[in-house]
Amino acid sequence: MVRVTANYDDYIHEPSNENLDAIPGDNGLPLVGHTLAFYKDPYAWACKQYQKHGSLVLRTNIWGGKGVTLLGPDLMERVYLDPGRDFSSRMGFMARVGIFFGNSVIMEDFGHHRHQRRILQTAFKNDSLKHYTAEINGIYDRALDEWGKDSDKTILFFSYIKELLLEVAAEVFIGEKDRGEAMRKMNQAFIDCTNGTMYIVPFRFPGNTLDKGLRGRKFLEDKFRALVPIKRAGDGLDMLSHFCREKDEDGEFYTDEEIASQTIFLLFAAHDTTTAAITHTIYYLARHPEIKQRLYEECKAVGKDALDYEDLDAVPYMQQIFLEVQRVRTSTPIVPRRTIRELELNGVKIPAHTMIFTVPRFTHNMPEYWTAPETFDPDRFSPERAEHKQHAFLFHPFGGGAHKCIGMHFSQMEYKCFLYKFMLRYDFESRHEGEPFMQTLPLPKPADLMPIKLIKR
Ligand code: HEM
Repeated sequence: MVRVTANYDDYIHEPSNENLDAIPGDNGLPLVGHTLAFYKDPYAWACKQYQKHGSLVLRTNIWGGKGVTLLGPDLMERVYLDPGRDFSSRMGFMARVGIFFGNSVIMEDFGHHRHQRRILQTAFKNDSLKHYTAEINGIYDRALDEWGKDSDKTILFFSYIKELLLEVAAEVFIGEKDRGEAMRKMNQAFIDCTNGTMYIVPFRFPGNTLDKGLRGRKFLEDKFRALVPIKRAGDGLDMLSHFCREKDEDGEFYTDEEIASQTIFLLFAAHDTTTAAITHTIYYLARHPEIKQRLYEECKAVGKDALDYEDLDAVPYMQQIFLEVQRVRTSTPIVPRRTIRELELNGVKIPAHTMIFTVPRFTHNMPEYWTAPETFDPDRFSPERAEHKQHAFLFHPFGGGAHKCIGMHFSQMEYKCFLYKFMLRYDFESRHEGEPFMQTLPLPKPADLMPIKLIKR
């Protein structure tokens, strides 16, 4: 499934280096190493190891990917901007999710990456975003009307928003407007595929997580490939239609396989990240009624039913809340790479072909930079305080450099349009039984699925 391009450099054929003895840190527990603690909460793991070893370069001994964790804004800048072309995104993602996302934009480096990223560009231009905004507002209206039947009841907010954003993905990304069996099947295949990326047993046998995931992927691939000629001949404005009509540097259409792979990865990159951002927002607003009230006042003051594309800057406090949620509960808990050659980082020699992990939330909470980092305080992003501006890579929820999130504006539009309509129609109170466990992987969310009482305004 994963194409290995003939003219790629040799580094993609090299096995990963697992000799980490010279890296600061320890090997963790016998047999499992750091696996359990790292996957339970990479941020808590990084804080503990940093305290213990005092190094921003840390040995990481996890199953299926021994490597080095890098922390702090200077190293983030080095990894993301990568001026020496020392880090491979392809090899970072290959080990775990290569079989799911082979040939997509995140799985390519340098020139190959530029070639693949080009396919996405028209779909993320202003005119396209404007069109999606109108479409999304319509979907939200319909869904929020339906949610009304559950007012004064306790609902699991996470399940509601997940389903709603899947509807958005089906319609806006693929152009699938039929809310019946076709959408249900596609959404299920997508859920199986994303769950599949979290497989523990790395072998496929009928019905296990990996098998279900790969079958989900195959379903999506077949579906998207079959749509290519139809979309290419049509004038659709959904993202898949844009990809089908896009041409490469030589004026050629992208292959069906490339289009299908990009679309599958795009669904993955877009969906859980934004679902997590909205769910955590509800979590923090429920805990901070004064912040919720201020946001409600801001929404009311705009004086419209919906935020149009031109209105997205009219809710600056909502923007600060979005950023603060990304700081405290970053939607992408780990971003991987692999070294291409030997490097020295903070005085530590890191061999070639070593897996690298970055844990953005660590840098987003460093007390050297952030005022009371454990406090949820959206005003730290106000123009007066602007704590995030102390260093270009102190705050990097969307990454940076060549692979910087192409959906950065889309996700904020999706977030703001939802929150705006939701705040105007509903108030809510949390209904946790005790303090919920805040899960990090496979996707950050309150493990109790965020129960709230929905109250009609
Ligand atoms: C809160 C929401 C989101 C967050 C926090 C987020 C975060 C990120 C991060 C950190 C990266 C960089 C990964 C790396 O360097 O390895 C990334 C890449 C990417 N994101 Fe997002 N993302 C979000 C939403 C979206 C949405 C809505 C879309 C699409 C509609 C999207 C599409 C992509 C794509 C295609 C890439 C790969 C870009 C490339 O490799 O050139 N993301 N995202």
